[in-house]
Amino acid sequence: MSSLDETHCRLARQIGYDVKSEDMQPNNEKQSEAIKQALKSRFSLIQGPPGTGKTRTGMKLIILFNRINLKHREEGGDHKLVVYCGPSNKSVDLVAKWMKIHIPDLCPKIVRMYGNSMENMMYPIPNREYINQRSCKDNRPDSDLADISLHNLIRNKENPYAEKLAMFEKQFKNSPDDIATQDILKYKKAISMATQEELKKYDVIFCTTAAALSPKFLRATDGKIFQLIIDEAGMCTEPETLAPIIATKADQVVLIGDHKQLQPIILCQEASDLGLSKSLFERYADSAVFLDTQYRMNPKICEFPSTQFYKGRLKTGPVGKWTVKKPLQIWKRPDVPLLFCHIEGEEECLSVSTEEGNQQSRSNRAEVDHVVKVYEYLMSHDKMDWDDVKVMSQYNAQCFAIRDALKKKGLINSDVTTAVSSQGGEWDYVIFSAVRSLPKFRIESNRNKGWCKKNLGFITDAHQINVVLTRARKGIIIIGNKNLLQCDETWEALIKHYTILGCMVNAEDQDLTPLERPGRRY
Ligand SMILES: Nc1ncnc2c1ncn2[C@@H]1O[C@H](COP(=O)(O)OP(=O)(O)OP(=O)(O)O)[C@@H](O)[C@H]1O
Ligand SMILES: [Mg+2]
Repeated sequence: MSSLDETHCRLARQIGYDVKSEDMQPNNEKQSEAIKQALKSRFSLIQGPPGTGKTRTGMKLIILFNRINLKHREEGGDHKLVVYCGPSNKSVDLVAKWMKIHIPDLCPKIVRMYGNSMENMMYPIPNREYINQRSCKDNRPDSDLADISLHNLIRNKENPYAEKLAMFEKQFKNSPDDIATQDILKYKKAISMATQEELKKYDVIFCTTAAALSPKFLRATDGKIFQLIIDEAGMCTEPETLAPIIATKADQVVLIGDHKQLQPIILCQEASDLGLSKSLFERYADSAVFLDTQYRMNPKICEFPSTQFYKGRLKTGPVGKWTVKKPLQIWKRPDVPLLFCHIEGEEECLSVSTEEGNQQSRSNRAEVDHVVKVYEYLMSHDKMDWDDVKVMSQYNAQCFAIRDALKKKGLINSDVTTAVSSQGGEWDYVIFSAVRSLPKFRIESNRNKGWCKKNLGFITDAHQINVVLTRARKGIIIIGNKNLLQCDETWEALIKHYTILGCMVNAEDQDLTPLERPGRRY
């Protein structure tokens, strides 16, 4: 890639590398370096381990890029746009919402563009099935963003095509069986024209990497996109990253992500073996600026992931959300908020129904019971709220079983989550159930890869382990069979670390009797 033109480099120097706001802390050294690098390069990468301010840095970039574009326009340049995208609607919604709600004064003119299937859910075209009903329940346009969602804006009376669209939609509703293909083509053309008109009014567009490829969007923005930011780029396949870069013809590209957390999910094993699970971000990761200070986790929680996944480079910020008034009574050492409860349960193989269909999954009754005991203990002894504790497992069947057991005890209103869906989230305390288990006599001393794969499965995925271990601010409790888990090298290192810290306990030796608190369901 050639270097950035002198005008943009000059404008970048003029506007500076930080955004002053009460709601956003000033940059730390690495965040400043990352922003500076992004502002003066045509292609740059920012690697941010958990809680290091990736999303904050991304938001500041949006604001700064927009300031540059506005200045450029003042000097006689064309109207240029910033596009912020990511692989999932959830991540894009989160950032758009945060900017809209928390920093309204600093927030540029933003618009949220959903993909066709989401738009058609709100404005259906007769006789077309766009998405299966099961997945659409949780996959609707965010209602908090309704006022800045493109599909609503083009239907506002200010848009010159709104009336035409309303006319078609009335016809679709009243006589769905009489719609000719020609009508649908005309309707789509009107949407495309309305989009072109509407996007002229905005400076920053939020969409997924897939939606950034839609022809109507590309037609409306042709030659206008200067900066493209792709967040969560460690989770995007190479084509998912490359396609928007090429299609938008952006002059400046920033990839933000962390290839040590979840990789792209590739269902086809062959494609994965051929390299599709390696993101473009990972290929270029050596040239990324590394955000080295995290603000989420207690330093003791950060220690292991830092050593194991980030070569010890991840530091803890001077202040953070992990501060506690009083350590929990469950800890073996009051100064170390970590605990591994060893238990030899029995695995069960089950079929569970998920969004992707029926899947083979596993659960472990003894671990379910122990999770419930620990949960109940925390609620009664430490007067916690439901929302303070997140229960996680990598297996859907175990998540179902734990949710069920907690519900039966009247103990839960929040969800139990898989490691995969917890990425990006954070909670005060995490209880993790490992599930996989074998009695000691069945654990072979000469183990090969096949044996480990069969008996440990994907709980050895270092990317998932990293995500699990970096969600908690104040403490983690792991429930699992240490004899089996230590057959994997990451788990072995963790068990060694917890042993040195004195945080290993046999589940059966724990006294987890809940306090009697008459009249109150925790
Ligand atoms: N320079 C800073 N000084 C103090 N606090 C900061 C700084 N940068 C970020 N934070 C805080 O760190 C927390 C995490 O920030 P953010 O959500 O942007 O991180 P992230 O890297 O995107 O996390 P995740 O891994 O969950 O995606 C926020 O609460 C933010 O307030
Ligand atoms: Mg983030």
